[in-house]
Amino acid sequence: MMVTFVTIFIFIFLSLPLTCFCIRSFPIIGDQTYPPEDHFLAFSESPEYRNGAQCTNKTIHIAITLDSEYLRGSIAGINSVLRHASCPENTFFHLITAEFDSTTPRELTRTIRNTFPSLSFKAYVFREHTVMNLISSSVRVALENPLNYARNYLGEILDPDVERVIYLDSDVVLVDDVQKLWSIELRNNRVIGAPEYCHANFTKYFTDRFWADPVLSRVFGSKNPCYFNTGVMVMDMARWRGGNYRRRIENWMELQRKQRIYELGSLPPFLLVFAGNIEPIDHRWNQHGLGGDNVKGSCRSLHPGPVSLLHWSGKGKPWVRLDEHRPCPLDYLWQPYDLHMSKSQYQSLDS
Ligand SMILES: *[C@@H]1O[C@H](CO)[C@@H](O)[C@H](O)[C@H]1NC(C)=O
Ligand SMILES: *[C@@H]1O[C@H](CO)[C@@H](O)[C@H](O)[C@H]1NC(C)=O
Repeated sequence: MMVTFVTIFIFIFLSLPLTCFCIRSFPIIGDQTYPPEDHFLAFSESPEYRNGAQCTNKTIHIAITLDSEYLRGSIAGINSVLRHASCPENTFFHLITAEFDSTTPRELTRTIRNTFPSLSFKAYVFREHTVMNLISSSVRVALENPLNYARNYLGEILDPDVERVIYLDSDVVLVDDVQKLWSIELRNNRVIGAPEYCHANFTKYFTDRFWADPVLSRVFGSKNPCYFNTGVMVMDMARWRGGNYRRRIENWMELQRKQRIYELGSLPPFLLVFAGNIEPIDHRWNQHGLGGDNVKGSCRSLHPGPVSLLHWSGKGKPWVRLDEHRPCPLDYLWQPYDLHMSKSQYQSLDS
């Protein structure tokens, strides 16, 4: 069994032409090797979630990345979606791993299978070299992780029959039914829906050099560009593919390498292409910034208003702060979704 799998794996690997785009999906095997060799990969099995009686069979597609650094966050995010969904069996997760992660795509996928035995999902391997040459340094090293840019390649990663997807960062938890987010309408042929923040100072997302350049700064034309966060997006993939948005974003990344026009990582190119023309979703769907700022990671409080999704964007991550016994107050809202085993739970597995 093992030998067969490895053979298939190698075969797929070798049969890819070198110029192949960036994606390789691979077979998912459900071997239950417990306990995992490494405490890091030890998660408790989530409860099984069942559809309510009113559910139709409409699939909700959700894309999320999976890597060793944010694994615990991704698993908590998936768990939170399932726990609050009225039709959890209708969710389908597209899990994007990185080729050169210290934990292999296969180990990550197996961890997901063991943690959520009945989850519908497909795993993909994002080939980092696709974006390596396009990534410029930014204010925080974590923002340079190639997997941050996977959201730009969803048009190629996902099957063409996936026409809409919700993209979620790996540091979010939902506390509401994902169906509500899924069913929003993207009016006026808009490609992306996300909460929009028109009171945020948009100027600061780009450098003085950008604003001083008469050609560049005209990119927003007569639009009123507002900040939005790319960690939670409803994306119309048919329009995305049709409009060649991957290329448009890459063009800005190429320019950034020649002349510094922004300081953050994957976000500003999205602002350059979409700001002023996104479907504004209720702010409840991205209570962001809970990780604090990009430098110190200080504690933050919630923005006023109702909450459907909490987002620990910024430097501090709740699982790190909880493990270090210095949590922020809101980190306790993340904790109930954490399935990672404590050291003592893990040690008792052996017996
Ligand atoms: C959804 O359910 C209907 C009725 O049960 C069935 O005819 C249809 O094929 C199903 N669609 C999918 C995509 O499973
Ligand atoms: C917005 O940010 C820019 C650049 O940091 C600053 O020069 C400007 O004064 C700010 N505007 C407001 C209204 O705060």
